[in-house]
Amino acid sequence: MVATPILHHLHILTLLLICSCSMHASANTTNSTVPCLPDQASALLHLKHSFTHANLQSWRDGEDCCHWEGVACDAASGRVISLNLSSIVAVIRRVDPALLNLTSLKSLSLTTTRISEGLSSLSKLPSLSSLELHGSSSWDPVGPELSSVGDIRQLTSLRLERYDFSRSQPSWIGNLTGLVYLRMKSCSFTGTVPDQIGTLAKLTLLDFENCNYTGQPVPSWIGNLNRLTTLSIQGCRHSGSIPSAIANLTRLEVLRLGNNSLVVYSNREV
Ligand SMILES: *[C@@H]1O[C@H](CO)[C@@H](O)[C@H](O)[C@H]1NC(C)=O
Ligand SMILES: *[C@@H]1O[C@H](CO)[C@@H](O)[C@H](O)[C@H]1NC(C)=O
Ligand SMILES: *[C@@H]1O[C@H](CO)[C@@H](O)[C@H](O)[C@H]1NC(C)=O
Ligand SMILES: *[C@@H]1O[C@H](CO)[C@@H](O)[C@H](O)[C@H]1NC(C)=O
Ligand SMILES: *[C@@H]1O[C@H](CO)[C@@H](O)[C@H](O)[C@H]1NC(C)=O
Ligand SMILES: *[C@@H]1O[C@H](CO)[C@@H](O)[C@H](O)[C@H]1NC(C)=O
Ligand SMILES: *[C@@H]1O[C@H](CO)[C@@H](O)[C@H](O)[C@H]1NC(C)=O
Ligand SMILES: *[C@@H]1O[C@H](CO)[C@@H](O)[C@H](O)[C@H]1NC(C)=O
Repeated sequence: MVATPILHHLHILTLLLICSCSMHASANTTNSTVPCLPDQASALLHLKHSFTHANLQSWRDGEDCCHWEGVACDAASGRVISLNLSSIVAVIRRVDPALLNLTSLKSLSLTTTRISEGLSSLSKLPSLSSLELHGSSSWDPVGPELSSVGDIRQLTSLRLERYDFSRSQPSWIGNLTGLVYLRMKSCSFTGTVPDQIGTLAKLTLLDFENCNYTGQPVPSWIGNLNRLTTLSIQGCRHSGSIPSAIANLTRLEVLRLGNNSLVVYSNREV
């Protein structure tokens, strides 16, 4: 009996707190209130010095690193959550261990043509869920080096752009069993598309836009990926018929098959 009014007051207090918090949040959503923490800035500056030819002019000691080019912070904590260096001119030969100090990093985007060291160390970043890697030319294929990306088990989103996998199939993608989004853009294959992708049961998005699978049919394992809501194989130089396995994808909302040499579904396809 005594507890009831107290609980009642607590309830009102909680409501008031929720209201004031949400008003506070909505009025402040566009502002980054906490500036970059010093340890985050120090890790970024260390990283900058590990790059060659980096034109990172906004990365200057003494200035709020949350406003540096390619950097995004959590406004409440001042910790770096996203680093996008894919459009920044820099030669990155290895992943410097200083990057591992950015323990709140969720999203990382790099142009990696010549990286051969340290990619697997990214598995030590506890919050990293999204990785975007850009290759840039076929004269410097990185297939074998990229295989250590398969060690970054915590990834839910992977995007690989402009890689030439004609020397080595990226079968290691099958180790990333938590992937929900897999995008490969303008990649080149000569062997078959790795079957291991057909075992990634959590995938909801699979996009192979403008990849080169010259002359190959669409793999029938596509029918196993029954959580897919988006499937794009457009511009992939696929040939043959559209596999009936696609009928298994009952959650599909977006299907892009254009710009291939596919023939319309035929009953001969099993
Ligand atoms: C935004 O947040 C700051 C401190 O975090 C506070 O002083 C300020 O009053 C808030 N602005 C609005 C419009 O609520
Ligand atoms: C905070 O947000 C307000 C309203 O959106 C804006 O006028 C102000 O310039 C922002 N301040 C900073 C430091 O970004
Ligand atoms: C990374 O963190 C470790 C341990 O907290 C610290 O000793 C080291 O100086 C940091 N490195 C950089 C480049 O900030
Ligand atoms: C990184 O930046 C590039 C170029 O500005 C952009 O196309 C890409 O979508 C960005 N990636 C992420 C994960 O924000
Ligand atoms: C990772 O993938 C490779 C290539 O498919 C495979 O040989 C290896 O056994 C996998 N490792 C684990 C731990 O699953
Ligand atoms: C596509 O792959 C085939 C076979 O490897 C190759 O001959 C062709 O040049 C590639 N085309 C493009 C545009 O990369
Ligand atoms: C359809 O999905 C089921 C599991 O949901 C699977 O056992 C079956 O092999 C799939 N069929 C095709 C044609 O992929
Ligand atoms: C069709 O696919 C080819 C090869 O991937 C690509 O180069 C071309 O730009 C695509 N065309 C259109 C209209 O998307």
